[in-house]
Amino acid sequence: MLIQSKVEKIKVISNKEVAKDIYQMSFAASLHAVPGQFINIKVKDCYLRRPISIANIEEDHFEIIYKVVGEGTKILSNYQSNDILDILLPLGNGYTLVENKKVLVCGGGIGIPPLLELIKQLKKYNNEVIFLIGLNDINENIYQDYHPIICTMNKSEYFNGNVIDYLKANHLDYNYVYACGPMPMLNALQKYVTCEGQISIEERMGCGFGACVGCTCKTKHGYKRICLDGPVFEIKELDLDEY
Ligand SMILES: Cc1cc2nc3c(=O)[nH]c(=O)nc-3n(C[C@H](O)[C@H](O)[C@H](O)COP(=O)(O)OP(=O)(O)OC[C@H]3O[C@@H](n4cnc5c(N)ncnc54)[C@H](O)[C@@H]3O)c2cc1C
Ligand code: FES
Repeated sequence: MLIQSKVEKIKVISNKEVAKDIYQMSFAASLHAVPGQFINIKVKDCYLRRPISIANIEEDHFEIIYKVVGEGTKILSNYQSNDILDILLPLGNGYTLVENKKVLVCGGGIGIPPLLELIKQLKKYNNEVIFLIGLNDINENIYQDYHPIICTMNKSEYFNGNVIDYLKANHLDYNYVYACGPMPMLNALQKYVTCEGQISIEERMGCGFGACVGCTCKTKHGYKRICLDGPVFEIKELDLDEY
């Protein structure tokens, strides 16, 4: 099945717990999407769909990685191989890919998954990538294959602090930034970095396709809808001061 943007019934290939409360779910479909786009999943017994980023796109399947934080993601974690899900996809604008740059890709918590497909694609365009991530718990590190620099607050052999502490303590050579993570992290990053870049916002949503205006964010050009105008914005464009 080749998918453009619309509602589809899609078969689950697998849905496995890869760290405590973190699941990797794989779907049987060929998806035409760019990194940073997301899907909106109808979950049994929940009125609102749940938006989750696309983490990996392969020829005949794609994957998401999500954390169980409430009712919807708990129900999602119970789906099994061969179940059929009603999904609206692909949604949002996604990241614009740069070429021949030294790129800092910076993620925090459940903002990390969309950066995985992004890193794959950036490498195809001759970019040097530094991958810097912040994790609340080192046991949530399921990203070893992408060779991240890890920052964590729980005592471990990794950097003890957040990603901004790391950037302040270490001189990293980069001239472009991509980021996704909690709003306070994005706010601090926006203030710290001087180069251009793009950040993606994962705030709460209603419809997911621009109809309800339930997902606005403040930008230098007025309010915009995260689901339709974003979730990716130019780093300098956003007004994140309230976070
Ligand atoms: C564009 C986009 C992409 C996303 N990508 C991912 C992803 O790849 N992986 C992933 O795990 N999650 C992702 N999220 C967040 C995910 O949509 C929510 O965690 C999920 O909808 C929560 O549903 P729930 O019913 O389990 O929790 P609820 O019962 O609705 O809420 C439980 C708790 O989680 C908080 N919460 C709910 N939604 C969000 C949110 N969007 N941001 C911050 N806190 C929230 C609530 O305030 C509450 O404290 C994304 C969100 C957006 C908008
Ligand atoms: S979620 Fe409805 S307009 Fe964005």
